[in-house]
Amino acid sequence: MNAHELRSKYIEFFVSRDHALIQGKSLLPDNDPTVLFTTAGMHPLVPYLLGQEHPAGKRLTDYQKCIRTVDIDAVGDPSHLTFFEMLGNWSLGDYFKEEAIKMSFEFLTSPQYLGIPLEKLGVTVFEGDSTVPRDEESAAVWKSLGIPEERISYRPRSDNWWGPAGTTGPCGPDSEMFIDMGKQPCGPDCAPGCACGKWLEIWNDVFMQYNKTADGVYEPLARTCVDTGMGIERTITILNGKKSVYDTEIFAPIIAAVEKASSHTYGTDPEKDKSTRIIADHTRAATFILGDPSGLSPSNVGAGYVLRRLIRRAVRHGRKLGIEGIMLSPIARVIIEQLSSPYPELAQNKAFIIKEFDKEEAKFLETLFKGEREFEKLLPNLLKDPRRLMSGRLAFKLYDTYGFPIELTEELAAEQGMTVNRTEFDDAFKKHQDLSRAGSEQRFKGGLADQGDMSVKYHTATHLMHQALRTVLGNHVAQKGSNITAERMRFDFSHNVPMSSEELARVEAIVNEQIKRDLPVIMNVMSLEEAKNTGAIALFGEKYEPQVKVYTIGDFSKEVCGGPHVERTGMLGVFKIQKEQSSSAGVRRIRAVLE
Ligand code: ALA
Repeated sequence: MNAHELRSKYIEFFVSRDHALIQGKSLLPDNDPTVLFTTAGMHPLVPYLLGQEHPAGKRLTDYQKCIRTVDIDAVGDPSHLTFFEMLGNWSLGDYFKEEAIKMSFEFLTSPQYLGIPLEKLGVTVFEGDSTVPRDEESAAVWKSLGIPEERISYRPRSDNWWGPAGTTGPCGPDSEMFIDMGKQPCGPDCAPGCACGKWLEIWNDVFMQYNKTADGVYEPLARTCVDTGMGIERTITILNGKKSVYDTEIFAPIIAAVEKASSHTYGTDPEKDKSTRIIADHTRAATFILGDPSGLSPSNVGAGYVLRRLIRRAVRHGRKLGIEGIMLSPIARVIIEQLSSPYPELAQNKAFIIKEFDKEEAKFLETLFKGEREFEKLLPNLLKDPRRLMSGRLAFKLYDTYGFPIELTEELAAEQGMTVNRTEFDDAFKKHQDLSRAGSEQRFKGGLADQGDMSVKYHTATHLMHQALRTVLGNHVAQKGSNITAERMRFDFSHNVPMSSEELARVEAIVNEQIKRDLPVIMNVMSLEEAKNTGAIALFGEKYEPQVKVYTIGDFSKEVCGGPHVERTGMLGVFKIQKEQSSSAGVRRIRAVLE
């Protein structure tokens, strides 16, 4: 069975069981700020799982493009993928465990559909804990269908609980379905769910019963729902008895395109095979991100940054295969052709996809070129070292100044018979990170509660507001305190009288204007004196180290600060002042949010 047949059969089966076929949605979720990409088929359905009526009814089915980036560095091994397709069916307060399991069983075993022999099927169910009881109900349904007890395995929450997809949302116990690959059991406890490789999972029925809130509370859902998910690539690999997804018909044309671009034949060298897989996976994921109707381009923030990393990592591995010039768009063309029938947006956005690949590759090649040129400049001195060791600090400088990846510095060094002092590089890298952390603690004592994305955004917004207040009220405004959580910012400053509503509106407008200008946020290290001379705002009475970091936001603000900050103001969202009040004598307090 190939991917196309699996997709069609699944949809046909559930449509014949009164499910409405709905359109899969964008890869960039618009209902969940807690994740960058759609990570599961249920993702676009979250509002409906939480209780809203769906216009297509209570029984739904679809195929959905998904991206999971947590595994980005694991990609290259034979099983991890960044992009995958997920098949699913949903009950929104309609059927629950019994009917869901019966339909899953029929689709898996019926000769008309997957025709998997009963003796190859195993399942897991939730073993229960202090909050949710053992799922005897699901176990009984599986048993009634003919799955023997020894192939019904009770597993803990860490295995048999699904969701939420982000940090909040619908979740519940699940029942997973496995295929026996025919290997010997790894021990007496080897059962479905065991990770030894005997049992491979192909489908998951989730029984949505709770909504996990931002406070970490599990609220029972108003109506129970079913959410199921079957990954197409994984299932095709298993059904066809392949060891790796890269050996299936899904990847065959993509691997062939990588082979064509390089002189490497897949299967002949483990390191180069790994690079081939990385290029195939990353190009596929990037093609789908670029092909998404959202029109996202590579950038330095959020999903755009993931896209940039995918493209750049693919290019780096292309170089490992000896590819010198632009290489990804011909591979992307193959992917567009292969998947435009289920995903017409790929064909529709083909010109944009190709253009963005070429542009980003050219940009990265330029970075590489600059880094290489700098390396060559350093070379005469480097070669004087009898130990043939390049300093890690120097390698870090190439990374920090030109964005030149350490792996490439190591490669260039190796070509000259040298090694890079990696420990020193790692130390410099870590120090760089620690400096940000130590700085922020020092600067915002008890203020910057964490370094989550939202807090970092509020941190930058605080600088913008500080400057905006000085612009509107005058330079007597000085920071007296700051407190940031992931939900809001609070800022105390010296000012004698309540602010008028016009003043508040002006401050708000000025901050939003700077956000709209998408100003770069740049950090420089300098002496405190130098910082003051350049006009940076520093906190009076605060103790600073002799060397300080100065954050400059475009032409708008300059402040001594430990950071961290966002890279550009454009990612802050909309700034809103919620409240202005007295804090203490001569000190006002503003509470504001980013929306
Ligand atoms: N949402 C469930 C999953 O992704 C079905 O496995």
